Amino acid sequence: MKNSLDYSQQELQDILQKTTELVLQQYAKLEQQDGFHDYPQTKVASWFDEPLPLLGSDAIALLDLVKQRVLDTATGNLGPNMYAYVMAGGNQISTIADFLTSTINQNATKWHLGPAMTEIEKRVIKWTAEMIGYTTEAGGVMVSGGSAATLTGLTVARNVFCRQYNVNQNGLFGMQPLTVYCSAETHSSTDKSISLLGIGTKQLRRIATDSEFKIDLQQLQQQIEADIEAGFLPFCIVGNAGTVNTGAIDDLTALAHIAKRFQMWFHVDGAYGGLVSSLPELKDKYAGMELADSIALDFHKWLYQPFEIGCTLVRNWDVLRESYFKQADYLDTSLEVKTDRLEFNEHYFQLSRSAKAFKVWMSLKAYGFTQIQAMMQKDLALTRYLEQQIQSSTDFELMSQSDLAIACFRYIGNQLDTAQIMAINHALIPALEKDGRIFITGTRLRGEFVLRACIINHRKNTESIDYLLHVIRDVASTLPT
Ligand SMILES: Cc1ncc(COP(=O)(O)O)c(C=O)c1O
Repeated sequence: MKNSLDYSQQELQDILQKTTELVLQQYAKLEQQDGFHDYPQTKVASWFDEPLPLLGSDAIALLDLVKQRVLDTATGNLGPNMYAYVMAGGNQISTIADFLTSTINQNATKWHLGPAMTEIEKRVIKWTAEMIGYTTEAGGVMVSGGSAATLTGLTVARNVFCRQYNVNQNGLFGMQPLTVYCSAETHSSTDKSISLLGIGTKQLRRIATDSEFKIDLQQLQQQIEADIEAGFLPFCIVGNAGTVNTGAIDDLTALAHIAKRFQMWFHVDGAYGGLVSSLPELKDKYAGMELADSIALDFHKWLYQPFEIGCTLVRNWDVLRESYFKQADYLDTSLEVKTDRLEFNEHYFQLSRSAKAFKVWMSLKAYGFTQIQAMMQKDLALTRYLEQQIQSSTDFELMSQSDLAIACFRYIGNQLDTAQIMAINHALIPALEKDGRIFITGTRLRGEFVLRACIINHRKNTESIDYLLHVIRDVASTLPT
């Protein structure tokens, strides 16, 4: 048995060369990458149905197996035929950054366990605040994604808002029930966060939206007043800087003012759309985001990062520390060289942390933010192109209008009645998944089922959009009406 898990330098070189070949093969055929491969679940499970391997195997042969069963069967998240959910496709320099990050295995928890990585994370937080026009004093932390970013923001919100009750120690016992407000279009991660924070989703007020799927401000204020009257403690408004269904941006200035008037925390869920506020042509739509007490952002969306990376920003570092610092003897910093070291474990829930910010830092350095913004603009232009194609067709119907990169629509065929339209759009989802050429999913707008195309992927072009509509028509023609 060897003395460590390491390979010889020559063996490692061979493994790396093989890995390089596999990576290059991924990018070589991207424009033909199918959206999905329709292998039955039992078949995929059978590929991995084996006992715990007690003895190792040859790494090169293992990479061949990985190619066959993992790489070649992967859902087409990189390529131009992915429209489902929010799948941004990653980027090459971040793939390399992730590889280097795990090579040096820094722990972005204490400054001296990853000095460069800690300073890089601080710098990425500064750059992020600059991108979206947030305060230069902002504190922040890299997290796993948008859901974690909202949970983090709302945890700080709860702890700071309830400072006088010392909820860190006392919990919520004996307090008036807290209430939280958001639009009916708000992402389910807010519900999950509210439930994890012990506030209870019954205390989450999902306020109706207007014709553009933005929160109805009048109903919001009426609900807050009614709750105060009924003995609740309204504590937080969650505004949307781009909803997941249609990309709707709430009136964030109005929400900030309402929050201020009722002395509430103002959190913005910018996971889907927050970073687009960096585009001068859309800046006005986001007015008021800079007033937020906390903001959730997702870099594996509109910064084209590979999973996972999100970010929470707050107005200063102190509120993070107030929420998350917990003294522990073995983490004590008092004997360390006295400097201005920032300890991320004192500003976030996790102790051990991967250095996620490194890939953002490398991509910003390699591509430049201007080039990334150009890709955002391309995504927006392609979405407008898709909307035009739908509107000028006779067999599709546009169901939402967005400033961002989501188009909701229905296939309406020729002379189908309402029931048939409903049935065929439902039937299209599994039929398209089986077909696999493109991957698209659906959602509901005001209770009505629609197809939803999300276009955040720097590898798409107008031909990809034409292909999307072509494949839907083609598959629809095979379905009974
Ligand atoms: C508006 C919004 N908030 C939160 C999330 C959750 O983000 P994540 O999947 O990174 O947890 C999403 C995901 O699409 C989103 O669009």
